[in-house]
Amino acid sequence: MKAAKVLVVDDELNMRTVLKAMLKKEGYDVVTAADGLQALKFLREEKFAVVATDLKMPGLDGMGLLGRIMQDDPSLPVIILTAYGTVANAVDALKKGAFDYLTKPFEQDELKTVVLKAVKTRLISDSDLSAAIDADPHRIVGASSRMAEIHEIIRKVSPTTTTVLITGETGTGKELIARAIHRSSTRKEQPFIKINCAAIAENLVESELFGYERGAFTGAVTTKPGRFELAHLGTLFLDEVGEIPRDMQVKLLQAIQDQSFERVGGLKTVSVDVRLIAATNLNLLQEVKEGKFREDLFYRLNVFPIHVPPLRERTEDILTLSDYFLEKFNWKLKRSVKGIDAEVRDCFLSYPWPGNIRELEHLLERMVLMAEGPLITMKLVPADITATTREPRPAPMALTEETTGHDVLKSHMEGMERQIIARCLEECGGNVTRAAERLGLSRKGLQLKMIKHQLRKSRE
Ligand SMILES: Nc1ncnc2c1ncn2[C@@H]1O[C@H](COP(=O)(O)OP(=O)(O)OP(=O)(O)O)[C@@H](O)[C@H]1O
Ligand SMILES: [Mg+2]
Repeated sequence: MKAAKVLVVDDELNMRTVLKAMLKKEGYDVVTAADGLQALKFLREEKFAVVATDLKMPGLDGMGLLGRIMQDDPSLPVIILTAYGTVANAVDALKKGAFDYLTKPFEQDELKTVVLKAVKTRLISDSDLSAAIDADPHRIVGASSRMAEIHEIIRKVSPTTTTVLITGETGTGKELIARAIHRSSTRKEQPFIKINCAAIAENLVESELFGYERGAFTGAVTTKPGRFELAHLGTLFLDEVGEIPRDMQVKLLQAIQDQSFERVGGLKTVSVDVRLIAATNLNLLQEVKEGKFREDLFYRLNVFPIHVPPLRERTEDILTLSDYFLEKFNWKLKRSVKGIDAEVRDCFLSYPWPGNIRELEHLLERMVLMAEGPLITMKLVPADITATTREPRPAPMALTEETTGHDVLKSHMEGMERQIIARCLEECGGNVTRAAERLGLSRKGLQLKMIKHQLRKSRE
């Protein structure tokens, strides 16, 4: 295991040096900061197991730092270093969530005991993985070469202000990637504002995007900024951009090009500096061909495309993600399921995951919650999954011209998808909302698939 990292915060150079030496001797990796603000900066850049901080410091003091940590990352243990005579303050700090305190001057042994105790609470299951999940709920996990490429793309595109268009099926991680781009950009301190174009009534899209002036319509009692304005200096995430009504597309294009717009009912031009990231699970080019999506807007958004492949096309990621979610839900649900049975793993590998990572994540959450023994066993695998994977596999086909010529794989996959959806709908008594939830699909996503496969809603 890697050495746990400790952040030491003190305005006295002497104290920093002594502490660093003491902690290094115990095998910790140590970073020092001279005040609270510098500490916050380091906390944003790196993951620490423990923070040890002085109370009295210029700028942001120990109490202020503690407050911020309790807000951003409440499970990060903070040890207060207090001078003799200010113990009352330290007790106050404990009430506010500090892990423990040490009175200066302290012995190497005292420090060792407290830090070790703190590190242990941080690494609940004593594994690096749970520490990582604890520290970063937005981690992008994946072992496949395609995910490695996506990581590389995120690294390259983040520092720029280029517009990014993320495409991929539902549940593949588009939003996660959008957030990752923002978090590793120079705008990370500025807002990340999301607007889900599919979730807003058509007549409200304009006021949501651009805001409105007082009196613009009945009910507009105050002027309200829209998402573009809220995202000023930061990132605007246009989710499900393919669903944006046709008549709004031209207004959106204008606002993107000019970085300015008028609020609904307003005459004044509002200028903004916004980085755009858009996402869609539709084939936008197809939508353009069918006349549903403006070509000019498409090209304006598609400056830097990122395609996230469905999970079934990167099977190498299935088990890595399963183990990650197992750890995550063990930690979240305070369970201690040890692993996933080999039969279940096989089953996961051959299931096509129509709801992608979201489906896998939801399934593991349920499994961890329901597990009775130390392992996730086949008993916990829902029927719609075993049904697909247990069915005798088709005899291996000879790769003749005939079998390779006509999208054999695709039609096979589609057949499987249809089967899963049909079975799930049946088990849910035709309830689309419930079936969608089980499949890890949005209601709309499921409805689209039902239309594609000509599946009817229920057995009416
Ligand atoms: N590579 C990954 N590692 C860890 N978790 C992931 C990964 N990809 C997706 N997830 C998780 O899967 C869930 C779905 O991801 P996300 O919401 O980003 O998908 P999406 O592509 O935006 O889906 P939709 O099109 O339905 O909106 C989230 O809980 C996300 O945290
Ligand atoms: Mg999404």
